[in-house]
Amino acid sequence: MTTAREMDNEIDWSSLTFDYTPADINLRCHYSDGKWGEIEATRSQEVALPIAATCLQYGQEVFEGLKIFCGKDGKVRAFRMADNARRIKESAEALIMEPVPEEMFCEMVKKIVKLNARFIPPYGTGASLYIRPLQLGISPQIAVRHSTEFVFIMMASPVGPYFREGFCPTPICVTRRFDRVAPCGTGRWKVGGNYAYSLTAGKMAHDLGYSSVLYLDPREKRFLDECGPANFFAIKGNTYITPKSDSILPSITNMSFMQLARDMGLTVEQRQILLDELDEVDEAAACGTAAVASPISRIDDLDTGRSFVISPDNTPGPITTELYHRLRAIQYGEAADIHGWTTVIDLD
Ligand SMILES: Cc1ncc(COP(=O)(O)O)c(C=O)c1O
Repeated sequence: MTTAREMDNEIDWSSLTFDYTPADINLRCHYSDGKWGEIEATRSQEVALPIAATCLQYGQEVFEGLKIFCGKDGKVRAFRMADNARRIKESAEALIMEPVPEEMFCEMVKKIVKLNARFIPPYGTGASLYIRPLQLGISPQIAVRHSTEFVFIMMASPVGPYFREGFCPTPICVTRRFDRVAPCGTGRWKVGGNYAYSLTAGKMAHDLGYSSVLYLDPREKRFLDECGPANFFAIKGNTYITPKSDSILPSITNMSFMQLARDMGLTVEQRQILLDELDEVDEAAACGTAAVASPISRIDDLDTGRSFVISPDNTPGPITTELYHRLRAIQYGEAADIHGWTTVIDLD
């Protein structure tokens, strides 16, 4: 972990990874007695909790992730923050937590960015300021019961690319040994508990030389679900295909790519995708806020020994590349934001 003091000296923006580098200030807001309190700004990296807090006892926690970019024009932009505000509200409601009002969420994003302006990576470095909002149930309970008090926290960290390899294809694997979530479970929400067991599956994949696990649907294990902490899409001819499933997180990046694909004249199909169909795709990638798009070279089925080679020459496909550059160009203010996805944040 890099400390803020170390950053006072000099930061090599282009060598940032996706590790946590705490910005100076984080924000907190408590909910109790039926209302949200004042937004507090603090330098503390700690949070005091009752040891019986429901977040600790029963995993009553939800979170989000979004990025802030310094553009070519020097303006600072948040990407689709209203969608993150809506999604954390839905996640909270799923766990009987008091939803954070969307206006409060957006106000806190603007505030944390202003207070940590020196951590916004300059244009041209490929880095960004990552914002991690999270909400915890903090009422003490021994019985399995939900909280009536909550804390909403927003923290920030400058980050570089998620994958060290950068925008180049990596192999992933399919295994039936692990499910990310249960059928009728919490897969469509960003609930911390979804990620605990995925750490085990992710480590297994990394140990075997894969960048992540491509999960199958947990009910039948026939259809593609998602790719570690990212959605999956493939290009087949002139069609963008991506799984439709109630056990995957509705990725904001994927939604953006679907729109950009339509803008490029592609047909977009959001539907069930059989594993066997991987034989017929021309390109495939994982997508999410962290990596934007991460092209896939090969998908190995660890249980059957079957291998789907997506990119024999190990280069990213042309459509994936175009989608990636179009999205990044909007985020960095290099291309017109015709869909109104960005919010300029005034730092004064
Ligand atoms: C399980 C999972 N799927 C998909 C995504 C990608 O979603 P987004 O594009 O909104 O970051 C994420 C990351 O937030 C995730 O954790």
